[in-house]
Amino acid sequence: MFASPSLVGACALAIALAGQVGAFTTRSWDDARALAKTVVANMTVDEMAGVVSGRGQFGGRCVGNIHGVPRLNIPDICFQDGPAGIRAVDLASGFPAGINAAATFNRDLMRKRGQAIGEEFRAKGAHVYLGPDIDIMRAPAAGRAWEGFGPDAYLTGEAGYETIMGVQSVGVQAVAKHLTAYVQEHYRFWMSSDVDDRTLHELYWAPYLRAIEADVSGIMCSYNKINGTYACANPRLMNEIARGEAGFAGYFVSDWLATHDATYETAMAGLDLEMPGGWLIFGGGTYDDIGPEAKNNATLLARLREMCENIITPWYKLGQDQDFPALSFNVQGSSDNAHVNARSDAHTALIRTIAAASTVVVKNTGGLPLSSPASLAIIGQDAAPPQTGCDLNACLGGTLAIGWGSGTTTLDYVVPPITALQQRIGAQGNKTVLAQSLSNDIDPGVSAARGKSAAIVFCVADSGEGGIGLTQVDGNWGDRENLDLWRRCGSLIEAVSKVNNNTIVVIHTVGPVNVNPWVSFANVTAIVFAGLPGEQTGPAIFDVLFGDVNPSGRLPYTIAKSEADFPAKVLLSAGLDFAPHVEFTERYYNDYKHFDAANIEPAFPFGHGLSYTTFSYANLTVTRGVNPTTLYTVKFAVTNTGSRDGTEIPQLYLGFPSGSDEPPKLLRGFESVALAAGETKSVSMTIGQQQLSIWDVTSQSWVRPPGTFSVSVGASSRDIRLTGSF
Ligand SMILES: *[C@@H]1O[C@H](CO)[C@@H](O)[C@H](O)[C@H]1NC(C)=O
Ligand SMILES: *[C@@H]1O[C@H](CO)[C@@H](O)[C@H](O)[C@H]1NC(C)=O
Ligand SMILES: *[C@@H]1O[C@H](CO)[C@@H](O)[C@H](O)[C@H]1NC(C)=O
Ligand SMILES: *[C@@H]1O[C@H](CO)[C@@H](O)[C@H](O)[C@H]1NC(C)=O
Ligand SMILES: *[C@@H]1O[C@H](CO)[C@@H](O)[C@H](O)[C@H]1NC(C)=O
Ligand SMILES: *[C@@H]1O[C@H](CO)[C@@H](O)[C@H](O)[C@H]1NC(C)=O
Ligand SMILES: *[C@@H]1O[C@H](CO)[C@@H](O)[C@H](O)[C@H]1NC(C)=O
Repeated sequence: MFASPSLVGACALAIALAGQVGAFTTRSWDDARALAKTVVANMTVDEMAGVVSGRGQFGGRCVGNIHGVPRLNIPDICFQDGPAGIRAVDLASGFPAGINAAATFNRDLMRKRGQAIGEEFRAKGAHVYLGPDIDIMRAPAAGRAWEGFGPDAYLTGEAGYETIMGVQSVGVQAVAKHLTAYVQEHYRFWMSSDVDDRTLHELYWAPYLRAIEADVSGIMCSYNKINGTYACANPRLMNEIARGEAGFAGYFVSDWLATHDATYETAMAGLDLEMPGGWLIFGGGTYDDIGPEAKNNATLLARLREMCENIITPWYKLGQDQDFPALSFNVQGSSDNAHVNARSDAHTALIRTIAAASTVVVKNTGGLPLSSPASLAIIGQDAAPPQTGCDLNACLGGTLAIGWGSGTTTLDYVVPPITALQQRIGAQGNKTVLAQSLSNDIDPGVSAARGKSAAIVFCVADSGEGGIGLTQVDGNWGDRENLDLWRRCGSLIEAVSKVNNNTIVVIHTVGPVNVNPWVSFANVTAIVFAGLPGEQTGPAIFDVLFGDVNPSGRLPYTIAKSEADFPAKVLLSAGLDFAPHVEFTERYYNDYKHFDAANIEPAFPFGHGLSYTTFSYANLTVTRGVNPTTLYTVKFAVTNTGSRDGTEIPQLYLGFPSGSDEPPKLLRGFESVALAAGETKSVSMTIGQQQLSIWDVTSQSWVRPPGTFSVSVGASSRDIRLTGSF
């Protein structure tokens, strides 16, 4: 059914999108809910049962579809992966991964990435983006941590917020995932994450508060158990915390195959939509029998009606009932794929911009920027064209643009480093002599490097989703077995550095890696973390290495001197226990919070990243406000004191009052500030009530601990330039 203009809500916004996508009007939650109630009231019990269960793993055209109700104009709402672009279709872009969006520390780019991804979903006729992933990187080797925004709850929340705002601004639903404490691939279907209430709220739940502020349409519950109860049958998470405490008004959808318990129990625990529906290899818990059961049980029938309303409300809220493009693809086969082009030059340019802005220069003793070197060696398998054609990118040959699994993108093409470099050098008249060795073999790498003005070694560390089968890449079943660079790339770096005193290391990685011993070698003149930059990886890395783009990326995680310094590890083996309980003894002291609290020196701290210019900070003031979202305003001035234009990422960390059992520093603000050489700008960051609160287990509420907060502003978590307090 189509909405009449009189039903349009007060805060409605008409958005006309260029080209293939129609105009639509968004609605308030209340107006959308009223429309959903009306249409659901007209459904039979069997029709309602179809809405709440998917069409089956192979039964729809998308990775998930509901059973629509054509006579009431409710379509087979299409759910599609996510989160780095629309997956399993052609003519769509391969965006930088979530971890790269985080590394930009740039809200504007995070939102633009979300909007561009949303535009491609809409262009293809897919209603629901299965993203963003706002899982917390508890252990650095966690297989899917790169899909999300790293170990910090604040950065994750902000990146999640901007992504959702971007995606939904073009009328596509976002589903934040995975609720929650889903922290590794090994044992993911049976493991219990045993998390205390405060840690649950402050670390694993906090990003969802921001997702709800962004009006997220859905939340996906995770595979694992929390305290022994499956997440998708967990009333504490869904009913009490999400709906009760936070007022979440959208729907809960299960991860694919994440339901186990009886229908009644699962429905009453808060799960609205069961995906993919039908056939399951584990447990039980499909909604196959919800219709017959509801016909005999008034409580379940009332709940079934509410579940349908929850699922359909966001469809009305985002105006998907008006001119939404017809679904144009079929992930199960090519017969009804219209090959609609979702790409655009603007998206390609944005991918390159984000990839460059997420490139983190962690060490630079003069190697960068390269200024028309007389000769250059490019070394390592990671510089070569990528291997293509393997399912879900669960293979590695050539450069790494994205990790593997359901969070990957299909990658129509990738511009690898070697191609981008050849093009660049060609465009400059081939004045630079180029030597190459596109493998990790030591001898040819050393030969290429010898006598060259600079040698760039490309290295890799990959991870992904643990498959149901035995998908392993280099012996890693989703999670990484360790943090070493893959395929002996550390040895390659060491060997090259022995013959070339200007060895530049570029690392395409899913997360932290071991950098000893070569990190401190004098001949290693630069180290660059490039993350998973997506399809424009080659052009973007040379934009930074040659200085066309002045780097501003920041580490969204800590690089440790030793793997043992991290407070939590992936549980790779629990012996004969197939359903281990993993106690989160590190609580919310993960990543830099642990390094700070335990006084451990990292190799490179959270928030670190170098520029080709320098910045100074001055004049910190803290003023008190009245609005709960702007209780304090922290102001300071940043000056570009060098001779190049550049972008600084000032970060605000709070120290909580003594006795509040919080880490020494918690990220509570960041900005991306572009400054011409010599320019000064005033930067202001606001702190709201939520950012000053801890979860009080006794009163079951967020409270501000009494006492003095310290304010630290600087260029990383360990490079504090200004301090204050309130
Ligand atoms: C069924 O839908 C019609 C029109 O769409 C609406 O007027 C009517 O109120 C609905 N029925 C119920 C029982 O809500
Ligand atoms: C898990 O158990 C701990 C310890 O008993 C408790 O504090 C916490 O609230 C529980 N969390 C959930 C989500 O049930
Ligand atoms: C509905 O079914 C549940 C689970 O079997 C049962 O506990 C409950 O009493 C039933 N309620 C009604 C109204 O039949
Ligand atoms: C640079 O070298 C490439 C490969 O040999 C060649 O195709 C290209 O024409 C050259 N470009 C210039 C400007 O000389
Ligand atoms: C550094 O590189 C130079 C070649 O430029 C080499 O002679 C020297 O031995 C290298 N130093 C180390 C410590 O490997
Ligand atoms: C690096 O080696 C080159 C010769 O290969 C030499 O000209 C240059 O001075 C060396 N640089 C440093 C910093 O040692
Ligand atoms: C800092 O404040 C002083 C005093 O108001 C002013 O003179 C100075 O220009 C300010 N510095 C910057 C970088 O804004």
